[in-house]
Amino acid sequence: MTTVETTRPLTEIGARDLRELPKGHLHLHLEAAMRPATLFEMCEQLGVDVPPTSGFVDFSEFGACYLALLTVLREPSNLDRLVDEVFEDQAAQGVVYVELSVSPTFYREVYGSLSAALARLIALAEAASAAHGIAFGLMPTVDRMASIEESIEVARVAVEFAGRGVVSLGLASDERGYPCRDFAEAFAIAKAAGLQAAPHAGELVGPESVREALDDLKADRVLHGVRAVEEPALVAELAERGVPLDVCPTSNVLLSVVPELGAHPLPLLLEAGVRCSINADDPLLFGPDILAEYEVCRSVLGLGDEQLAACAWTSIETTLAPDAVKAAARERIDAWLR
Ligand code: ADE
Ligand code: ZN
Repeated sequence: MTTVETTRPLTEIGARDLRELPKGHLHLHLEAAMRPATLFEMCEQLGVDVPPTSGFVDFSEFGACYLALLTVLREPSNLDRLVDEVFEDQAAQGVVYVELSVSPTFYREVYGSLSAALARLIALAEAASAAHGIAFGLMPTVDRMASIEESIEVARVAVEFAGRGVVSLGLASDERGYPCRDFAEAFAIAKAAGLQAAPHAGELVGPESVREALDDLKADRVLHGVRAVEEPALVAELAERGVPLDVCPTSNVLLSVVPELGAHPLPLLLEAGVRCSINADDPLLFGPDILAEYEVCRSVLGLGDEQLAACAWTSIETTLAPDAVKAAARERIDAWLR
């Protein structure tokens, strides 16, 4: 191999094009899926300072950056634009199913109630789904730093729209001091209505948090979950039970969950038989979107095309995406591998 060849994009030297691999994007927070240019324009229009989108040194600073994004979304036309652009961007990267995490409580005041906020988000997602040709599900997400009462309220409003745009209940924000077990009632409400339980766990706290997600919340999927590697028996159990992890490599580096990309445990988890999907989490704040994350998994983590295709299939098969979406994706993944 020559030096020139090693620096050319892999697609030019005959590797399969990852854009063509049909993918589900399951771990994507709506507000931080905004285009940087859109944030600039919206701030300019509203005459407000552009909030920082990098430079956070820990999760608390990251959380503050995230909340600052909400300012521009108090203007309803900006939320309309955001949802449409997110679907356009996901479609352009080969995403065929997007499961968007959104906290309806952020929008309660502007839209009048949690129910009205979620109804508006679903209407926007339906329009964007039709315009850009990709399927979607919404994951109303509980802020674990808010009250238990609020978690139950979010679960109840999620259930109101179960099967009508809502597919799962999420749990996000700082895990430290806000354990999964505190949210058992909210997740029981969601699961009783057929929603998937999809909490963040095993990101800022170790395997005990993943264990609680499984035992106390009956998690169908775990967002992140990578710190399960600290307990081999738990890794074996995840593999055995087939509970998937919705993994976000770059996010884990920038929030110091792993020291560097090369040390990310995704290859180890896959080798142990744990089903994993590949996701971007917060592309506005971390940089890469889903396609770039797949590229990183190939070029830095050394995943082969069979493994990348398996992650893509996990990102479709383990969800409540429509059967027709699953069947079409399976065919296209097989064709991609041939
Ligand atoms: N909200 C947005 N991104 C998050 C992350 N990586 N962990 C917890 N909460 C989040
Ligand atoms: Zn997340």
